[in-house]
Amino acid sequence: MTFDTAEKILLKYGQEHILAYYDELDDGDRKNLLSQIELIDFSVLENINVENRHSSKRGRFSPLGAVTIEDIEKNREKYYTKGAEAIKNGKVATVLLAGGQGTRLGFEKPKGMYDIGVTKELYIFECLINNLLKVVADTGVYVPLYIMTSEKNNDDTMNFFEEKKYFGYDKNYIKFFIQDMAPSVDFNGKIYMESKSDISISPNGNGGWFSSIVRAGFLEDIKENGIEWINVFAVDNVLQQIADPCFIGAVIDSGSQSGSKVVSKASPDERVGVLCLEDGKPSIVEYYEMTEEMRELRTDDGGLAYKYGVILNYLFSVDRLEEIVSEKMPVHVVKKKIPYMDDNGELINPEEPNGYKFETLVLDMVHLQKSCLPYEVERYKEFAPVKNSVGVDSVDTARELLKLNGIEL
Ligand code: UTP
Repeated sequence: MTFDTAEKILLKYGQEHILAYYDELDDGDRKNLLSQIELIDFSVLENINVENRHSSKRGRFSPLGAVTIEDIEKNREKYYTKGAEAIKNGKVATVLLAGGQGTRLGFEKPKGMYDIGVTKELYIFECLINNLLKVVADTGVYVPLYIMTSEKNNDDTMNFFEEKKYFGYDKNYIKFFIQDMAPSVDFNGKIYMESKSDISISPNGNGGWFSSIVRAGFLEDIKENGIEWINVFAVDNVLQQIADPCFIGAVIDSGSQSGSKVVSKASPDERVGVLCLEDGKPSIVEYYEMTEEMRELRTDDGGLAYKYGVILNYLFSVDRLEEIVSEKMPVHVVKKKIPYMDDNGELINPEEPNGYKFETLVLDMVHLQKSCLPYEVERYKEFAPVKNSVGVDSVDTARELLKLNGIEL
C-alpha cells in the first residue's frame, strides 16, 4: 500500500494520527506500518456508535429445552452408533479455538501451554489431545484437528506442539491457521499506537474462525475429504469432550443443522450465555442481556426456564457454514485494558480499562442456523474452564475437577 492510499483511508475514518511519525521512520518501519494499515478492517470502528451495537439489535427471546442427560442415557447406544459411524467415515473434523490472549489468566504464553499439573507436567493442550485420543481409541480413526491461532501466538503454539510431539496425536491430522486482527481504540474511537510504527491490534474474536479456515485454503481440504460436520471448541475447558460420538449422533439423529453442548445453570445468576430462541430461531442470550424476569422465569416443574448454559462446544454442518460464510457477524465492542504509546513515546500498561476492542463471537453463528440441538452434559464431567488464575473458573477449580474425574495431576 502506498502512503497516499493509506492517508486517504485514515482520513475517511478520522485516524490520520497513525501516520504522525511517518517522516521519522526508516524504510523498514514505514513499510511495516503501511502493511498493517492494509490489513485492518476499519469498518469495525462504526460499531463504536451505540446504535450500531449488537446488544441494541436483539429480538424477542423465548426459552428452549434440551435433550437432557436422562434422554441421552435412554438413547445412548443409538446416538453412539450413529456418531461413531460418522467419525469412522471421516465425516467429522474438529476446530480448536486458540487465538485468544487469555488476559484474565495472566500467563504470557498461549493458554494451551499452561501447565496445570501438580506433581507432573500436564499442559492444557495435552488435556485436550488426551480427550480426543480417547475417541481415536474407541473408533480406530484419527479425527482431523484444525487449530486456530493468532499472529501473536502462532509460532509459540506450533513450536510447542512440535516440541511435545503433538502429545501422541498423528501430526498429519493436525493443521494450524491464523485468525484476523482488529484495531484497539480509546473511548473516543481513536486507534491506539504501541510504538511509532506499530498499531495496537489484537485478535478479532473467535467468530471469524470459518472465514479464516476458508482463507487459509482448508475448505478444499475439508470438502475433498468429505467432512460434513465440524466440532468447534474452546482451548480453556480441560474436561472438554471433543468429537464426542454420542453428541454427534444425537445431532444427526435429530435432523438439526447444528448442536451445542450445554450444562444446567448452577443458579439463576450464573454468568453464562444461555441457549434459547430469539424471534423463533436458535440464539444465545448473554448473562448481562437477561432481565431479572428472564433469569427467574420457571417452567411448570419449577425448574429455570432459561436453564441451559453454553460451554463453547458446538457442532456445525459444513453445508450451512458455507452458506453463511459471507454473512456479516455482529461486532461486540468490549472494554479492555490496552497498552499504548503516550505523547512522550513511552509504552503505558494501564491498570483500568482505557478503551475498546472489537470482536465477533462464535456464539452468534448459532443464530444463523435454522436449528440447533441443545445437548445436556454433566457439568462436573465436561466443564472445567480455566479463565482466571485463582477463584471462580480458575486453575484451582479446574484442578479439583480433573482430580474428581480421576485424572492424575
Ligand atoms: P475467551 O472469551 O475466554 O477469551 O475465549 P480469551 O482471549 O481466551 O481470554 P481473556 O478474555 O483475554 O481472559 C474463548 C475461546 O475463544 C478463543 C480462546 O482462545 C478460547 O478458546 N478465542 C478468543 C480465539 O480463538 N480468538 C479470539 O480472538 C478470542
